[in-house]
Amino acid sequence: MSIFKAVIPVAGHGTRLLPATKSQPKEMLPVGRKPVVQYVVEELESSGLNQLLFVTGSKKRSIEDHFDKDVDLLELLHKGGRQNLIEEMKYQELNVSFYYVRQSVQRGLADAIGLARGFIDDESFVVALGDSIIGGIRSGALLRRMIDVHEKHKAACTIAVEKVPPEEAFRYGIVEVGEETGHGAFPIKSVVEKPNAEEVPGDLAIAARYVFSPALFDAIDRTMPDKGGELQLTDSIDLLIRQGLPVYAVPLTEKERRYDIGNYESYFKAFVDFALADEKYGHTLRHYLSRKL
Ligand code: UTP
Repeated sequence: MSIFKAVIPVAGHGTRLLPATKSQPKEMLPVGRKPVVQYVVEELESSGLNQLLFVTGSKKRSIEDHFDKDVDLLELLHKGGRQNLIEEMKYQELNVSFYYVRQSVQRGLADAIGLARGFIDDESFVVALGDSIIGGIRSGALLRRMIDVHEKHKAACTIAVEKVPPEEAFRYGIVEVGEETGHGAFPIKSVVEKPNAEEVPGDLAIAARYVFSPALFDAIDRTMPDKGGELQLTDSIDLLIRQGLPVYAVPLTEKERRYDIGNYESYFKAFVDFALADEKYGHTLRHYLSRKL
């Protein structure tokens, strides 16, 4: 595998989660015992990615603090003999290097990723949205499959997709795919962001993980702002497709699931699923919920 770099955009305002996100990043909201973005970083590390660039913004400082080794806190835990808590802090020793770039004005996801150009140079790279967890049995398996497809097909872009009910398609970026071409990859014919009911091209939604070749940066330069003045990543991907470059979809397996915590409905569902799966507290919570319901 020759891809080691990943970009994690975390600069968005998170307006759909106000007031919780008034002064803290949505990516730091807990799902079960960990903040969302910790799951993302652990997934990237277990897929072999070890150079991670956060695209941050104002009010996002706590993300940097979370991944910085806190020597004083560790010493305090050692002195108090709190071995179990020291174990919980082991994520600080992940085998990754963190880098940061700031998006001062939130001009959309494509604009945020465009800021990674200097960091990426001339290599392919992964983009993992900082507000979405991929749940499943083996963390990192999805990205490894995607990187494999990306390299075997010499793709310009490889996107994770998941099936969604047609009546929910208006919430997502939706792709239209052709016949499978091997290695579990489907060529993407078109992509549309949040389609109207009459223009939905299928039931496969973009699922928060991407692999790109550096060709993306030229496409971002040519992307026109949407009605709200933001540069949409789906529009940049559409330009890659129109250029005739190979763009592929890799579906999540039945055991994998994308948890987008960007709105309260899906955030609550994610929290319940992860809390129920917690090895220490899940059992009691299940008991409590079944009595309550
Ligand atoms: P979203 O579009 O869901 O985030 O972007 P948002 O803009 O924060 O959400 P709302 O609509 O205001 O509630 C998905 C990911 O991309 C990042 C976000 O931080 C999130 O992790 N993002 C989005 C950026 O880094 N910059 C942007 O300009 C927009």
